[in-house]
Amino acid sequence: MANAPIRKIAVLTSGGDGPGMNAAIRSVVRCSLHYGLEVCGVMRGYQGLIDDDVVEMNHRSVSNIINHGGTILKTARSKEFATDEGKQKAVDVLRKHNVDGLVVIGGDGSYQGASRLYHKFGFPTVGLPGTIDNDLHGTDQTIGCSTAINTALESIDKVRDTAQSMERIFVIEVMGNKSGYIAMEVALAAGAEDVIIPERTFDFGGMYKEIIEGNRKGKVTWIVLVAEGAGKAQDVADTITKATGLETRCVVLGHVQRGGTPSGQDRILATRLGAAAVDLLLNGIYGKAVGVVQDEINVIDLAEATKRQFTHLDDYYQLLKILT
Ligand code: F6P
Repeated sequence: MANAPIRKIAVLTSGGDGPGMNAAIRSVVRCSLHYGLEVCGVMRGYQGLIDDDVVEMNHRSVSNIINHGGTILKTARSKEFATDEGKQKAVDVLRKHNVDGLVVIGGDGSYQGASRLYHKFGFPTVGLPGTIDNDLHGTDQTIGCSTAINTALESIDKVRDTAQSMERIFVIEVMGNKSGYIAMEVALAAGAEDVIIPERTFDFGGMYKEIIEGNRKGKVTWIVLVAEGAGKAQDVADTITKATGLETRCVVLGHVQRGGTPSGQDRILATRLGAAAVDLLLNGIYGKAVGVVQDEINVIDLAEATKRQFTHLDDYYQLLKILT
């Protein structure tokens, strides 16, 4: 049986926000209008859908947002949507607004919801990777990751100034949920001395030894990155002080990494992905996640796109240790 034609698209952002989400919303809205479709935005992610918080959108609804972090549609994590009753309410609201296809911009939890909406409830969905964590399959980078890395680097460069001046060791915790991707990228780009991530067993004894030996030879500044999924910066700093006797401070960058002006890379990625999502819906291809792999649009099943594993982390770590 042929799919019913798509006449109206809804777009929502869900889970943790990330810089570039606005560029994705803009692209979905303007590409939909370009093809003569109606388009609406859902406020506050899946919870807003359940609560029937839906706004009609036009060209001007997305004017002057491409350069802004956050998301004009706001975002949330919904416990109610996790239940099948919640999902049924969401579908009822979509049908009430005559929506034929839903674009979900979010991370792995949002993808799982979008996949179930299609496979269990038969509602056409497409997912765009919107998370700073870069922990989704089927795309080289997620929307927000590039900006988050740059934001973390900007802060770490500043910490380095004081670390050098006061001859201190700093432990810096970055976001990434259960993924060490941001920590590893940032460690390499910041010229950090070490990095602790959930994907690798870390040799704490080896690090203490290196710090003590380095200190004996006159090396006084040490920057250690910790991915939030691997431990707390304060705990790591305390163990370093205990093991080496050297003054160690910690910084938790936290939600700073989620905000700010999106990088050019994030804007371009988001813009291309928004257009691709509209194309998929128009072509009757549902339940898919859109990404960019080696500069080409890449489409995989939503269910396949969650829980990414990286193979390059050991190589990056070896390089980091060679360089420092
Ligand atoms: O998924 C994005 C992310 O920023 C993770 O890196 C982090 O673990 C989590 O969201 C924080 O979530 P919240 O803003 O709900 O505390």
